[in-house]
Amino acid sequence: MRTICVINHKGGVGKTTTAVNLAAGLSRRDKNVLLIDLDPQNNVGVSLKVQAEYSAYDALIGKVPLDKCIVNLAKNLDIVTSRENLTKAEFYLSTQPNARMLLKTLLQGIKGYDYLIIDCPPSLGVLNQNVMAFCQEAIIPVSTDYLGMDALHKMKRVVEEINRTFSHNLKISKVVPTLYDKRSKIAQESLQEMHKFFPGIVSAPIRSNSKLKEAPKYGKSIFSFARSSPGAEDYQKLVLEVAEMGQKIVEEAVC
Ligand SMILES: Nc1ncnc2c1ncn2[C@@H]1O[C@H](COP(=O)(O)OP(=O)(O)OP(=O)(O)O)[C@@H](O)[C@H]1O
Ligand SMILES: [Mg+2]
Repeated sequence: MRTICVINHKGGVGKTTTAVNLAAGLSRRDKNVLLIDLDPQNNVGVSLKVQAEYSAYDALIGKVPLDKCIVNLAKNLDIVTSRENLTKAEFYLSTQPNARMLLKTLLQGIKGYDYLIIDCPPSLGVLNQNVMAFCQEAIIPVSTDYLGMDALHKMKRVVEEINRTFSHNLKISKVVPTLYDKRSKIAQESLQEMHKFFPGIVSAPIRSNSKLKEAPKYGKSIFSFARSSPGAEDYQKLVLEVAEMGQKIVEEAVC
């Protein structure tokens, strides 16, 4: 199972949009996907109109096992939603001497999926630190502007620090340029800078596209909402890139 956190401490850069559409796209390619929302804003649940009796917080504090929180949304696609009370998780985890083990034990119990994708909140708090200390891969959506680049450089340092602190090997597997407008000079410059500093791992850019904004209103991924939109085209490319990397990982393991 590939464990992927979709993460950036900067807000509004397309984390949830990426997590939702990546999960939906991979599930349409016959991969079994569990998408977990760890953001108290519950944007995954809202975007996909998922109602659940229990949320990630209930599992985190040990109220119910994680499988009680899992809701099946579509063929090959399961969801764990979040709730505002997840803000308390930061405090709860910070009071636990074994916070890392707590999250690890919880997530390690997940079986039977090809992909575990976690939508993270815009923070560098204890919850996100522990998510990073668990996952194998980080996918970082980055807005194609000056502040977006600044956040990306910071995220790289944070990942290095997490790996040092926890003797872990979290890899930035994809940098995803978002909200891209090719007519904008700063967007073009940002894209060039991403390729310069992160060679080989920058995905094709996700263009600014109003259909991506509208899809959550209808509780749909971009693939079922507007199949032939630029947003669907761009996310389909990302899905293929991520799936191909998975193939390489499998081949390397076999060789
Ligand atoms: N490529 C895009 N084109 C147009 N709108 C987009 C695009 N990507 C995301 N959006 C919109 O931008 C807003 C923020 O996106 P999203 O919620 O995915 O960001 P986020 O990083 O998850 O935010 P937060 O940090 O609050 O969790 C949403 O309204 C979303 O619909
Ligand atoms: Mg979000």
